[in-house]
Amino acid sequence: MSDETKGAEPNVQLWTRDGFLGALSVVTRSTYAPDYLSVEGPHAPRRAVLEHLVPGDASDPQALPTTVATSRIGVKLHVSARRAPMPFVVRNVEADEIHFIQSGTVKFETDVGSLIAGEGDFVCIPRAIAYRYGPTHGAMRSLIVESPSAVKLTPPAPSGMLNIARDLKYAEIDPEIAPGGPTRLILKTLDGENTVFLMPHDPLSLGVRLSDSVPVWKLNLTKIQVHAYLPEGGPPSHFLSSGAGDLLLFNLSARLGGRPPIHINADFDEVICYVQGPGAWGGCTEPGTLTWVPKGVIHHGPSEDVPEGYQAWLLETRATLRWTPQAIAASQLMETGNYAPHPSNVK
Ligand SMILES: [Fe+2]
Repeated sequence: MSDETKGAEPNVQLWTRDGFLGALSVVTRSTYAPDYLSVEGPHAPRRAVLEHLVPGDASDPQALPTTVATSRIGVKLHVSARRAPMPFVVRNVEADEIHFIQSGTVKFETDVGSLIAGEGDFVCIPRAIAYRYGPTHGAMRSLIVESPSAVKLTPPAPSGMLNIARDLKYAEIDPEIAPGGPTRLILKTLDGENTVFLMPHDPLSLGVRLSDSVPVWKLNLTKIQVHAYLPEGGPPSHFLSSGAGDLLLFNLSARLGGRPPIHINADFDEVICYVQGPGAWGGCTEPGTLTWVPKGVIHHGPSEDVPEGYQAWLLETRATLRWTPQAIAASQLMETGNYAPHPSNVK
């Protein structure tokens, strides 16, 4: 690796607690710390292009999204690529879900109303809200984050990063959904043992809304302002977090400032979704590239100061993620300098 790709200060190394918010220790090293020759075992950085992960629901309308990663505390990642609306209804009774729409236009119908989400939208469906979704034009692709701890928008200040009044869109009652006939309702639990009720009617056929609050909303990634410390750079700030503090979401799109330091994140796994360019983010150029650096694995990370721009988001979680065999088969080991495929494992 050349000095140019290593950054200006390749030998400075940070160890940090509590993500970007806790204690830190800084040392220098005589070598470029992210380099590794080979690795065996599950706690190794990986990357996958979502297009290469073919979820079961792409060909089987009866399938649920395909799991990419699980964890002991119940944080999970799934992918979906439906070509038709779900012929059933799901209610996750143990976790909130954030659906990120990587491509396509998706209609969500829920217990509290409907909304149409487009590319770059995060859609929040809290625990115990029943829903179904499907593409409006034949194809879609989404990444789903499941969080047992309730999530909420927690920007650093009431205004600035988010313009809630302008950009947060809530589900609205859709009078077109008829009572219909018998409908399967799947209650989803963390153990994966789904329970299926047969209901006499479509449970998503609603009347009118009586309360002010609507728990299902959408927010586009491009509407979340990036946060930077100039001129030298610094950590991003999250826009969403879980009540237990075990899950944080950030807009990690291109921003001014210096390259991240070489560091070890003691408490959080880092999952980054490179959504699209036009600019490259280090070794990531294909839209919908998912990268994962497990906690305690030293990494550098590409420069985020890319004049052409790109869109990306970061999930930090205290969960120790484990990729499923299917996701491992569709992914590659990753080097943690620029997040390209690791030389030992280029397929
Ligand atoms: Fe990091």
